[in-house]
Formats: sequence, C-alpha cells, structure tokens
Amino acid sequence: MKVLLYTPASDAASWLHDFTHALPEAELREWQAGDTAPADFAIVWRPPREMLAGRKGLRAIFNLGAGVDAILALEREYPGTLPREAQLVRLEDTGMARQMAEYVTHAVLRYLRRFDEYETLQAERRWKVLEPHSHSTFTVGVLGLGVLGTHVARTLAVLGLPVRGYSRSARQIEGVTTYAGEANFEAFLSGVKVLVNLLPHTPDTHDVLNRRTFSKLAQGAYLINVARGAHLVEQDLLDALAQGQIAAATLDVFRKEPLPADHPFWQEPRITITPHSSAETLREESVPQVARKIMALARGEPVSGVVDIERGY
Ligand code: NAP
Ligand code: GLV
Repeated sequence: MKVLLYTPASDAASWLHDFTHALPEAELREWQAGDTAPADFAIVWRPPREMLAGRKGLRAIFNLGAGVDAILALEREYPGTLPREAQLVRLEDTGMARQMAEYVTHAVLRYLRRFDEYETLQAERRWKVLEPHSHSTFTVGVLGLGVLGTHVARTLAVLGLPVRGYSRSARQIEGVTTYAGEANFEAFLSGVKVLVNLLPHTPDTHDVLNRRTFSKLAQGAYLINVARGAHLVEQDLLDALAQGQIAAATLDVFRKEPLPADHPFWQEPRITITPHSSAETLREESVPQVARKIMALARGEPVSGVVDIERGY
C-alpha cells in the first residue's frame, strides 16, 4: 500500500514520521513536484493541483482539516482535479470540538459579563460598574450543528443560557432549540444576542453573515465567526458596528489570511482578532484517525467523514 503525504506546514517531517509509525506496512512518501508515481491513498492539506490532477488508482484523499472548502474550490476552478474514483475524507473532531467549545465559550462569557467593555474602562483608568446583561435573554444561536457546532451548542447549554441551533436537516440536541432549513432561518435568527458561525463554506453558505442576517438579530448583538472568512461580508459588519446593530465581534477567520496589515478590522476596537487558531489540527489525534480509516478502506470496509462533493461538505 502506497501513501502520499502533502502539507505546507513546517512540521511536515513530523507528520511523515508519525504516519510511518501508525502505518508500518505502508510505503509512505512526501509528495514533491513532478511525482506521478502510483499511490493508493493521499493525505493532504491545501495540496497543489498537480499533486492530484490526472492521478489514477487513488482510492481516497484524506483532508487534514475539518473544512474541505479549499480542495473543493480547486475542483470547482479546475474540474477534474479530484480523481473521480477517490473518496474525499475529512477530519472528524480529532480534538477540534473541545478547542472550539473553549474558544466560543470564552468569547460568549466575555460578552455576557462585559469584560470587553471593562478592558476599555481599565485602559482609561475608569472605575465604573456596568449593568449586567440579562442571562435569560442572552440567546446564543449556533449556525451549523455538525461535529463542532453540536459540541459547542451542548457546552453553552450547560451554562444555562438559551441556546438555538441551525442546520440543513433536522437535529435534536438536549437543551438546544433547533431549526432546520432555509424556511426557518429567520425564526432562528430572530432575537439572537450572540451569533456563532460553524457552517462549512459552500456555495450555499457563502456571504451568509451579511447585513440582512444582522438585521434579524437582537439590537447590539455579538458575532463570533470561527468557520470561514468567506461567510462574512466584511463591509456589512463594519456598517452594522457603526449603526450599533452589532455591538462587537470575535473573528478567527478572514477572507484573506493572514489578515493584511492595512485591513480596517485591525483599527476597529470592537473587533477581536485571532489568527485562525480557534481549533487546530492536532497531530497526535489526527494521525490515529486517518491511519485507522486507511486500514479500514484497505480491508474494503466503509469509513465515516466522507464528503458529499455535490453538497460541498
Ligand atoms: P460538519 O460536521 O460537516 O457540520 C456542518 C453543519 O453545517 C451541519 O450541521 C450541516 O447541516 C450544516 N450546514 C451545512 N450547509 C448548510 C446550509 N446550507 N444551511 C444550514 N446548515 C448547513 O462540519 P464541522 O466538522 O462541524 O466543521 C464546521 C466548519 O468549521 C468546517 O467546515 C470549517 O470551515 C470550520 N472549522 C474552522 C476551524 C478554525 O480553526 N477556525 C477549525 C475547524 C473547522 P446538516 O447537519 O443538516 O448536514
Ligand atoms: C480548519 O480550519 C479546519 O477546517 O480544520
């Protein structure tokens, strides 16, 4: 069994080392430009088109992340990049759900307890008690109830906050009021105080965080975007902040990453920026999951986490 690896990460050698140990019977090699030799499986993060296009005999491509938007964008731009017979398999959780829950819970509590405003007051050396937000109307709406969104929604529900969730198909989660499908999108948004985005980026969800979406939320709502930058219409957020429709935002992902030094978001004190670090791909949890699935496919068994290319996630 031959396995190809490609990751632009600086720790590519460590990935190769760990996969070699996890798959002792496989022949692993790091893909280099010009390598067209046969392979049964590919393990990739943001691969160059030449690595996959026209390759025959590949049975599955393992994406070293939860989101497959980059690899599917390549396929949309250059149809035929993904070998037809190869399944595309994404990471499922591998420690990301826990990291997301920590990140989102921190951001929600920061806004609930007005720490963002106390930080400003401290910088001005002002001693002032702010009126607490009402716990019972501090409704958190989670867009996307997949592996990550479900864990985040459950974690927030434990705090006793009103939590809503939105997905394509109907989901049931204890302690969470769920909404499904476009017909229920406005009902989901109506009165939400903190909107958390954990949707995959697909043609259907592109630009979903826009002026119209913001206008349905509670006045002075908060936005937490931890999914993809292409979900957010950036000027609409700046306008909504200027109008007070949005009080503050925590953004982990951006249309252009790294966020350019002259981007207006850096100048906006109500926007908190982190560098796409809310949930990282953890090697120690990802290698065993991918290795287990490669061995299952090699035995002819099905695996979970297979991407529906048409649906886009
Ligand atoms: P997932 O398990 O595939 O869940 C996706 C969820 O979104 C599902 O509930 C799905 O609905 C829903 N959905 C998809 N399209 C929709 C639409 N048009 N309308 C309504 N709901 C829709 O994905 P995941 O593992 O939770 O990951 C979610 C995303 O997080 C990834 O795609 C990635 O972009 C992002 N992410 C970011 C980071 C970071 O560091 N910032 C790290 C990891 C992941 P159904 O349940 O009906 O299918
Ligand atoms: C990171 O953004 C991922 O999709 O895993």
